[in-house]
Amino acid sequence: MNTSAQLRAALAASLTRDGTLTDPHWRGAAETVPRELFTGNYFEQVPGSVPTRYRPVRQGDSEWLQGIYTDRTLITQLDGNIRPNDVTDGTVAGSPSSSSTLPSLVLRMWRQLDARPGQQVLEIGTGTGYSTALGAHRLGDDNLTSIEYDPVVGDAAAAAVKAAGYAPRLIIGDGLRGDPEGQPYDRLIATCSVRYIPIPWLHQVAPGGKILVTLSGWGYASGLALLTVTGPGAATGRFLPGYTSFMMARPHDRPPRPTLVLLPGEERPSRIDPAAIGTWTGSWVAQLAAPSAERMGAGAEQILWDVSSGSQARTAPGPDGGWTVVQRGPVRLWDHVEPAVRSWQAAGEPHQEAFGITVSASRQRVWIGTEDGPGWDLPI
Ligand SMILES: C[S@@+](CC[C@H](N)C(=O)[O-])C[C@H]1O[C@@H](n2cnc3c(N)ncnc32)[C@H](O)[C@@H]1O
Repeated sequence: MNTSAQLRAALAASLTRDGTLTDPHWRGAAETVPRELFTGNYFEQVPGSVPTRYRPVRQGDSEWLQGIYTDRTLITQLDGNIRPNDVTDGTVAGSPSSSSTLPSLVLRMWRQLDARPGQQVLEIGTGTGYSTALGAHRLGDDNLTSIEYDPVVGDAAAAAVKAAGYAPRLIIGDGLRGDPEGQPYDRLIATCSVRYIPIPWLHQVAPGGKILVTLSGWGYASGLALLTVTGPGAATGRFLPGYTSFMMARPHDRPPRPTLVLLPGEERPSRIDPAAIGTWTGSWVAQLAAPSAERMGAGAEQILWDVSSGSQARTAPGPDGGWTVVQRGPVRLWDHVEPAVRSWQAAGEPHQEAFGITVSASRQRVWIGTEDGPGWDLPI
């Protein structure tokens, strides 16, 4: 059986081969930080279970260490309070609320952030503390502050970071408020996603500094953005290649909702093929156009439901070809989505890396191509 050090070296070598690790210092961090100190016991999804169920994988199980050094996200908490040790027999259903992000994504994001020793870095979403320890190894304890919202998760991370031999500044609190005491920061990295850029970040990161964060929303679509702060309260940036998603920062979560009941409304033909919003970037465009709507359904049968206003839109194949949409409620969701999807299609249906974002004190706007291209305001 392989030791932890052997498995770490093998993972770092594989991440170097595939181009994730290009900097020998970050490779050194990956070879040094023992991920098992941070994940502890974790959950494994039960294949085919609906709703999804999880079984705990514990230290002592033959697959435990091997699983930790495969390049995947490990779920460490469900529903905000269920930990693997709470499941004494069998499996449990729930929704992931804390995890150790897959090592390749953590290391890629550290590279994309372009953080260097000597810079002050703020991390939002300590989680298990694994990414924090990697950052502390490379940047030095004095240069890194990390904020975790959940006190139980944060306390466990603090113990793990200490056990690994690091001592960055760790804070329990709402990372969307940033850290006024530690400002100015040169870099901010978030490993939870947001619906819009929190205003405090735009004042705590110094002009010229960078913010790396996943923008997502209640429609479950995401894009990873790298912004440069241009002045107090202002920033501009672009979305990066790839397919990155993170759990939503807790205060930006969709409000709880009852079970969906589809209600009658006004029917008309749809001007777009609804399947367009079932793709990675198509769903993102729909979310930009209808930011309060949750998206359900698949293919031509899409459902948008805005819990805050009770508005609904649902599409279906039409009887004579084409598609229909039924809408009800004060926000005509499909009326917003159609022109957005058409603008995106007119631009050649590009991936998010063709999109950018401009943030000012009064407005946060995501656009295609250039700042004066088609765009949508984020719900600040
Ligand atoms: C994907 S996990 C972070 C993974 C972590 N970087 C790692 O390597 O293990 C996201 C974390 O963000 C935390 N979180 C959610 N909302 C937050 C907020 N407003 N401020 C700080 N942390 C938050 C969650 O509790 C969760 O632990």
